[in-house]
Amino acid sequence: MAEENIYLTEKTQDGSISFKNLEFNESYHSIIGAYTEALHKHVLACKIVELAKSYDKKTINLRNIDNNAESSNSSEPIKILDVCFGLGYNSGVAIEKIWEINPEQRIEIIALESDIGIIQRILELEIPENYQDVHKKLTSLSKLAPKMEQGSEILKYEEEKLVITVFLDDARNSVKSLANNYFDAVFFDPFSPKSCPVLWTEEFIQDVVNTANTGAYISTYSSARIAKDGFANAGCELFEGPKLNRRNGGVLAKKI
Ligand SMILES: C[S@@+](CC[C@H](N)C(=O)[O-])C[C@H]1O[C@@H](n2cnc3c(N)ncnc32)[C@H](O)[C@@H]1O
Repeated sequence: MAEENIYLTEKTQDGSISFKNLEFNESYHSIIGAYTEALHKHVLACKIVELAKSYDKKTINLRNIDNNAESSNSSEPIKILDVCFGLGYNSGVAIEKIWEINPEQRIEIIALESDIGIIQRILELEIPENYQDVHKKLTSLSKLAPKMEQGSEILKYEEEKLVITVFLDDARNSVKSLANNYFDAVFFDPFSPKSCPVLWTEEFIQDVVNTANTGAYISTYSSARIAKDGFANAGCELFEGPKLNRRNGGVLAKKI
């Protein structure tokens, strides 16, 4: 019997493609735009541009100290945790914005995602012009995905300046294997607390916050009480993220 398709294609208002998941009965992005949401609610909210500039400065200083350093690739990577990778928009836009500041910047992304099926759908996206290069890297991940069974553990894309490692498991398990105080920024993007409550518990939020470095931002799109309480109780200072088309911006947490 043919497998039931649980992904319904949705074209969003900025022209980027997303899906609705029929099992969760929820869209992967809001109608305003998958690309727009990734850019504003996650990448800009987490101050990725400022991070890239500060890493660039560090690299220049390093080069001035050590004239023998061959290139900026001897520098530290920017480290990002992408919780609920899905179609990879948040990681993709982060890479794009970092390389606009410094094309030599190394980037390490760890992503958590339980559904290999949605990663396979990256191949079906129509992508805005400025996002094409990064999209090619994400499709490389997606091309690996069909060869893997649900239950495989890791999907990896690796090149000189970029490593993306996707842990294919329930994020509640994979988060436990990550280092503490490690990431410069965290994109926290599960389905809503109503349809995916297991990823909005205090325990999971605490585990995620533990992986972030002091001062790192953790972006969400949700302004629900459970999100506010979860991040406040996990030791974060709370801000309001960009509103875009909503009445309230989501919780933007900063680890203190
Ligand atoms: C709102 S979507 C993420 C959208 C994504 N950031 C993007 O750019 O396309 C939520 C994602 O959470 C994933 N998910 C649901 N339950 C999960 C779990 N227990 N562990 C890991 N991922 C889960 C879904 O498969 C889905 O891809």
